Amino acid sequence: MSTIPRYDVLIVGSGAAGMSLALQLPSALQVAILSKSEVGSGSTLWAQGGMAAVLHDRDSVQAHVDDTLSAGAGLCHQPAVQFTVGRSRQIVDWLVSQGMNFDLREDQQDAEFREFHLTMEGGHSHRRVIHAADQTGRALSEVLAGRVAEASNISLLTDRCLVDVIKDGQRACGAYLLSTADSRVETVRADAIVLATGGASKAYRYTTNPNGASGDGIAAAWRAGCRIANMEFNQFHPTCLYHPDSRSFLMTEALRGEGATLTLPNGDRFMARFDARGELAPRDIVARAIDFEMKRLGTECVYLDISHQSSDLITRHFPQAYERCLPLGIDITRDRIPVVPAAHYTCGGVVVDQHGASDVPGLYVVGESACTGLHGANRMASNSLLECFVYAQSAAEHIADSISPRSTLPEAWDDSRVRDSDEEVVIQHNWQELRRLMWDYVGIVRTSRRLRYAAERITLLEKEVSGYYGRFQITLPLLEMRNLARVAKLMVECASDREESRGLHYNSDYPDAAAKGLDSILVPPHFDRRTALTGPIDRLPPYAS
Ligand code: FUM
Repeated sequence: MSTIPRYDVLIVGSGAAGMSLALQLPSALQVAILSKSEVGSGSTLWAQGGMAAVLHDRDSVQAHVDDTLSAGAGLCHQPAVQFTVGRSRQIVDWLVSQGMNFDLREDQQDAEFREFHLTMEGGHSHRRVIHAADQTGRALSEVLAGRVAEASNISLLTDRCLVDVIKDGQRACGAYLLSTADSRVETVRADAIVLATGGASKAYRYTTNPNGASGDGIAAAWRAGCRIANMEFNQFHPTCLYHPDSRSFLMTEALRGEGATLTLPNGDRFMARFDARGELAPRDIVARAIDFEMKRLGTECVYLDISHQSSDLITRHFPQAYERCLPLGIDITRDRIPVVPAAHYTCGGVVVDQHGASDVPGLYVVGESACTGLHGANRMASNSLLECFVYAQSAAEHIADSISPRSTLPEAWDDSRVRDSDEEVVIQHNWQELRRLMWDYVGIVRTSRRLRYAAERITLLEKEVSGYYGRFQITLPLLEMRNLARVAKLMVECASDREESRGLHYNSDYPDAAAKGLDSILVPPHFDRRTALTGPIDRLPPYAS
């Protein structure tokens, strides 16, 4: 009989949240980081714009807090916002200490200490987005992966996908992992488990996210007994490249921060008709305005235009956007860029406290999979990388203070009753159906009837996938489909319960916001009140520091 590997901390996900958490744990702890494919292949790598932080003398924590609360449309949790923004400078210092090079101001070449170049994005009242050209996520990933590779206490388990969290009584004590290289399921023991698996935008037909964004952590946490909140708030990024020869590719909001305009096919600007902030209104407003204009005119896209800026500025700040468009015959220093909105960010997620702790003892959730209360009904641009680092740091501190070795031996995975599938087509078909359905019925503008149709169909899909899961050897597409069906159901349940329009959730049957905004909190079948966090997220105790 093979022995079950044991770690002190098992981190599922190798993005900004997972890697930075691992690096901040005491080196005496044995840590494993699990990655679905190669390290750093998740959403962090794709982040372009940067990270919001209060760094300029004219800016203030209060201004950043106020902007976040305003973008969040009445649902942000003030303590979470204050906590996150209050730690932003410290996080930048930590990243620099790890070797991260953020862009510096070009106009201070001769100064003894050059300041960071700060860019602007929607909803921010100041320039406060620190970045590495338009490839901030890639630069961060490389730095963190380098540090992780040097750490002797951190093991990397690549090509592994989480199947489920294992519990001993109410406490998380390990996980089942699918090794995609040989299709075996491994059982792993750990005293603390961290889910840092990113969001669930793969549930939508068009998305800016990498392939792995299938809500694995959210679905697994739900099955383990954690409450999930605010899943109706799916953020659609307003400007995703639209071209038949290109996979969806984000055209960073920083382009608009540097003055890019949005225009209709006839060249007219339109954003001023929707919001006085024009192109720099929060994302929910810009995405809805584009959706409205596309439907009104029956056009396939609108256009983003930065060509009024100098070629030098464009190629220096946006080299990736420039190089991505050029082979398609679009020279962004001269031409307009065809764009459409696409699913980008899951604002809701697993209910956690300010240490990233979930309702299940020993189970932490950080990054896009978590619902900390920071984003409310609409995440402000570039607040998510900040949230990843702040909560990863706080979770690392909490784990270091509270971890204790346990002797539980989880039950090994039993696949004696399943056989190889001869019907992979079912999974492919179900995924195609789900993502079309979510796009058409649970998209930027919703109606109560379409949400009802979506709920009925997803229930059938989930039943089919669950039958399949019980009969056949598991594969990565099956696991992802199982998770996507679950998170899509959670999204539709939250959206159906919200009889108002707020932030990213717009239901044309209820076009106005209710007087008081409330979180949508879903309670799973195996929820245990005795171990749960002390109350709904709006009543969690403030962070004690
Ligand atoms: O537009 C962007 O670069 C995206 C930034 C973000 O989602 O925070």
